[in-house]
Amino acid sequence: MSISVSIESSKKTAGAVLAAVTISDVSSSLRSLPDFFASALAPYIKGIDVAAVFKAVNFTGKVGQSCAHVANGIPLVFVGLGDLDKKAVENMETLRRALGTGYNYLKATDAKEIMLCVPEPKPFDLAREVYVEQVTTLLHIASYQYVEFKKDKKTWSPKISFVGSDKKNLPSIENGTIIGEAMNMARTLSDTPPNHMYPQIMADKAKQIAKKYGLTYTVISQEEAREMGMGCFYSVAKGSEHEGKIVVLEYKAANAAKKQPIALVGKGVCFDTGGISLKPSNYMTGMKYDMSGAAAVFASMQIIAQLKPNVSVIGVTPLVENMPSGHASKQDDVVIAMNGINVEIENTDAEGRLILSDALCHVQKKYDPAVIIDIATLTGSCAATFGPFFAGLMTRDEDLAKELTEIGFFVGDKVWPLPLSDEYKPAIESSVADISNSGSQTYKAGAITAALFLEHFIEKGRRWAHLDIAGTDSKIPGTTYLGKGATGTGIRVLVEFVRRFVAK
Ligand code: BES
Ligand code: MN
Ligand code: ZN
Repeated sequence: MSISVSIESSKKTAGAVLAAVTISDVSSSLRSLPDFFASALAPYIKGIDVAAVFKAVNFTGKVGQSCAHVANGIPLVFVGLGDLDKKAVENMETLRRALGTGYNYLKATDAKEIMLCVPEPKPFDLAREVYVEQVTTLLHIASYQYVEFKKDKKTWSPKISFVGSDKKNLPSIENGTIIGEAMNMARTLSDTPPNHMYPQIMADKAKQIAKKYGLTYTVISQEEAREMGMGCFYSVAKGSEHEGKIVVLEYKAANAAKKQPIALVGKGVCFDTGGISLKPSNYMTGMKYDMSGAAAVFASMQIIAQLKPNVSVIGVTPLVENMPSGHASKQDDVVIAMNGINVEIENTDAEGRLILSDALCHVQKKYDPAVIIDIATLTGSCAATFGPFFAGLMTRDEDLAKELTEIGFFVGDKVWPLPLSDEYKPAIESSVADISNSGSQTYKAGAITAALFLEHFIEKGRRWAHLDIAGTDSKIPGTTYLGKGATGTGIRVLVEFVRRFVAK
């Protein structure tokens, strides 16, 4: 069950109240002046001396402060936003985190109906429609719980209404819900244990999404991939009992302003043991998340199918399990990619770039996309560089770099560029083949050398950007609105990119 977000009803009753307030809101209420939240909240806090409540717990509205109080049997939670005097995107992140804190407080109350009070959109520099959409998405993100394998499957799915909203806000709430629900769908796929989430299950899920939302679904089997010359993909897929697959989801815009589609390509390694180059066990835990790029592409396609932008979009996801076995690739093997490049497998744990290389060749050959964005939990190096708060962005296209970086801050899922510089190229030279799938200790920079590997499979002149989400896919500390597991990273970035592509 998921939460529902809606506009304020005429009933003016609440099961609980969540209000995000600034220092000036609090101080004006202490002086008993009429102010925005006191008037908006008035019907819900009748007869309560809010100023006295704030005073009693020394709540001044600072960032990180919260104040919980039960009055007339109604839980009231106030969370502080400080002065909201930073950059607009930082103010928005302050609001997201404060709402995450408030949401977590209210969980314990089990209230059925929450009245939500947020400030006017001005400090966030957003049009009201965008603001309401952003907040709605955040509420869905904060509500995510993965309980499939808990005996106690009790979840909390309140109805949350915006105080001071009306019918005009409904389309924004709907868009925010579409995005938030798809993100939570992707997070569920990522959090699902790998004995329950292998390529066939992922493909079934994609098929189900396609059917429900009107996308075209096609699948390339492991054997077909081999016949098509996808030697790199096949070299990884063949090691597992579970057959590999390449799933393609297509959204065809009714009257596309631009002929060429956008291509989204997501790494779908349902579990990454490292293969014959087996990972040590402490590095293997959590490798169920190695399909988060593919899950992000599924979710993005689900959202795009509903938002119906005026540009066609292709989602391609190579799905495999990277296993050691008698059929698995060995170190020293040489395989041939779809575009004819001979690749030496120096390390079977660098499997993501192998499956992506053929997926990239295929999408260009078949769909001639205007721009390609791939998204992958590609390197430990990227996770080591950025930790949990930025995904790596690699592209030679300065416009793409600028736009994706800006979008990352805007949606609250940040990306930051790393240089795709030729100097690192010798790192992936091979003594026996055209290139090696593994970087080098001399050059280090594993995130960059992995991207340079991928670049060998991008046709000249094709616009392309690569997102490495190895650090941002799961287990983010200190971000109140994200739980313990998968984050759905990249989805909002991809979707916003598609929306802006149309607007231009
Ligand atoms: N899936 C991993 C990358 C990863 C590491 C994701 C940690 C999330 C957290 C990827 O397939 C991998 O194993 N990469 C190797 C490449 C190396 C062998 C060239 C890495 O980064 O160590
Ligand atoms: Mn690996
Ligand atoms: Zn991997």
